[in-house]
Amino acid sequence: MAGFSCSLQYDQYQTILLGLMMMMTALSLGSFSCVCRAQDPSQLSLDYYSKTCPDAQKVVRTEMECAVKENPRNAAAILRLHFHDCFVQGCDGSILLDDTATLKGEKTASQNANSLIGFDLVDRIKNQLESQCPGTVSCADLLAIAARDATLLLGGPYWDVPVGRKDAKSTSLELADADIPTPDQGLIAQMTKFLEKGLSVTDLVALVGAHTVGMARCASFRGRIYGGFELTSGLGPASEALLGKLRETCPASGGDGNVAAMDYVTPYLFDNAFYESLVAGDGLLGSDQELYSSLVGFETADLVKTYASDAIAFFEQFSESMVKMGNITNPEAGEVRKMCRFVNT
Ligand code: HEM
Repeated sequence: MAGFSCSLQYDQYQTILLGLMMMMTALSLGSFSCVCRAQDPSQLSLDYYSKTCPDAQKVVRTEMECAVKENPRNAAAILRLHFHDCFVQGCDGSILLDDTATLKGEKTASQNANSLIGFDLVDRIKNQLESQCPGTVSCADLLAIAARDATLLLGGPYWDVPVGRKDAKSTSLELADADIPTPDQGLIAQMTKFLEKGLSVTDLVALVGAHTVGMARCASFRGRIYGGFELTSGLGPASEALLGKLRETCPASGGDGNVAAMDYVTPYLFDNAFYESLVAGDGLLGSDQELYSSLVGFETADLVKTYASDAIAFFEQFSESMVKMGNITNPEAGEVRKMCRFVNT
């Protein structure tokens, strides 16, 4: 990392958390690294930028390190952006486009509005990439690499990220509304949405494990804690104490933007505690609890139990499934955007 410094300097950061992250990072580098290959029919490769922008990965990593030191939630934000990017037209940076007079972006879709964060961080990383190698590294690749770094920096696994994606020149608000899963959806609907993207039930259970980090807004879990949820209706988290705390954070009406951690044990450590909370019946999102509690979820419940008891199995599958999700490509001809928020003129 020599020679690279943050584009922003931060006065303070949480030393203890950092120490923990470093330790977990070292552990994950040592034990869980996987050389995952791009899958057909994608044109992606590991050395796509080796001649044109050899330091691309270092630039992204440096900015991510700074941002995560500043606030670990930044890691969660980027991980989610990559998911919401890949599920609409493929991983093509379409999620990053702002609305303009001639283009309606995806940011106002039901699962994105008032919810997605991290766009400023993407701009920061892109600025650094543009100053190193102008017009070379796509915003879609930026997100894929940054999502891997986000995982690693919170103590999760490392994987090699195949690159070579192009950025979309168009977006689809309709597809964003239709294809991104919602927190009040039952298991069948979740599985269907993943299968439509070529992702298996195993991919679903492993990828949702990303909820081991980050926060959800009251609007996303009110149905779960006051009833009205499709299948686990009215159950709420099994723990009365947790339920009480969540209801304090999230009143029956109002307070839509108040947040709670999806993994209340270790909200900013990428570990398998999220699955343990599902086994305990304490999932925050109704959709998450469905993976374990749905009446039709034999296979998913088994996977949840496996990951709850075996962090390495989770890490390996998560890495593999992230590469698979990252390989969902947009068949339309694309470009390398100069600014992630706008198509090139
Ligand atoms: C069935 C699938 C999924 C559903 C229904 C779902 C739903 C949600 C919801 C409702 C939130 C909270 C948003 C808010 O209240 O503002 C959230 C947050 C999050 N999701 Fe998912 N998600 C799913 C899959 C995934 C996947 C595959 C990933 C990444 C690989 C992911 C990563 C995240 C992260 C990291 C956060 C926290 C973001 C933050 O703290 O800002 N999710 N998700």
